[in-house]
Amino acid sequence: MTGTENMLASQADAEIMIEMSGVKKYFPLRGGFFGPTLKVRAVDGVSLTVNRGGIVGLVGESGSGKTTLARMILKLVKPTEGVIKIDGVDITKATAEQETKMRSEIAVVFQDPASNLNPRQTVESSISRPMIIHGVKKSDARAQAHDVMSMIKMDEHYLRSYPHQLSGGQLQRIAIARALVLKPKVIILDEPTSALDISVQAQVLNMLLDLQESMNLTYMIITHDLNVIRYFSDTVAVMYLGKLVEYGHTEEVTGNPRHPYTQGLMGASPILDPSLRGRTKKLLPGEPGSLINLPKGCRFFPRCDKADGRCEKREPDDVTVGPNHTVNCFLYDGRKAGD
Ligand SMILES: Nc1ncnc2c1ncn2[C@@H]1O[C@H](COP(=O)(O)OP(=O)(O)OP(=O)(O)O)[C@@H](O)[C@H]1O
Ligand SMILES: [Mg+2]
Repeated sequence: MTGTENMLASQADAEIMIEMSGVKKYFPLRGGFFGPTLKVRAVDGVSLTVNRGGIVGLVGESGSGKTTLARMILKLVKPTEGVIKIDGVDITKATAEQETKMRSEIAVVFQDPASNLNPRQTVESSISRPMIIHGVKKSDARAQAHDVMSMIKMDEHYLRSYPHQLSGGQLQRIAIARALVLKPKVIILDEPTSALDISVQAQVLNMLLDLQESMNLTYMIITHDLNVIRYFSDTVAVMYLGKLVEYGHTEEVTGNPRHPYTQGLMGASPILDPSLRGRTKKLLPGEPGSLINLPKGCRFFPRCDKADGRCEKREPDDVTVGPNHTVNCFLYDGRKAGD
């Protein structure tokens, strides 16, 4: 490599915030007393990169492995196989020192606002606690708790409140404040607005977008709501039974979905655009299969109306169908990018 190539390569690396390659998570399941150990293949070979400041949306039916993927990034579960790098550091091989740093760099906001907070602690204690755990002096942690309230657009008097005194939207803002105080690089948002009233959803999403821009945060958002994906994320990753079946720019994937599963998901999503109301929705037929007994070929084959002879024999490869747009389907095999 020449000096310039080296420089370009390291610049490109510096742009990548989340990098996953061949990531798998199999949960063992005991098959009776002396029976064979069965495995739940929750995540089964996911590769994905997210640039610094990017927002990736993860969609897929219940049980497709979205939360498990996020939990691996958060180091709450260990991958069975594969590499996960956050800002260039392989989190599975991190030293104790790197690990402590990493715990402050990757934050999470879960769906249920109440589960993010201790009911017996004031908002101030809840926000200060992560900082104190990471060695920030109590007085400094308090001062920062006051500062963060303006970032989440809440009055400082709420610092004295207890969770039961707050609304769902306010609780979720406090959960976001807790995620922000350690100045993370990455925030995982697992269904952050699904428990909220629709009018509050938009406010919380807008606030998250403002914070993302001002702090150059990288987000991974998990949601069942394709309208949230369209509004919020710049790229989208579609998961089906532990694998990514389609990945690309949100406009591309939602406007021109290529994988039959993505097409089905788009058809099954509630139509909020009033001009399109009344249009018949095509619901995704059937149920996702079992993660213990996956079909030999494409795992969407049993539900796919476009399947042919190849689909049940072996798993398809990822095919590039456009700039930064890949599809895991035989329909596009043999085509060149842009076809
Ligand atoms: N600790 C565990 N032990 C065994 N199986 C697990 C464990 N955690 C998750 N699973 C299984 O892994 C699969 C994927 O679960 P996961 O929670 O990642 O799905 P999800 O896409 O987040 O679903 P949802 O949309 O319902 O939140 C499921 O079949 C689940 O039962
Ligand atoms: Mg989940």
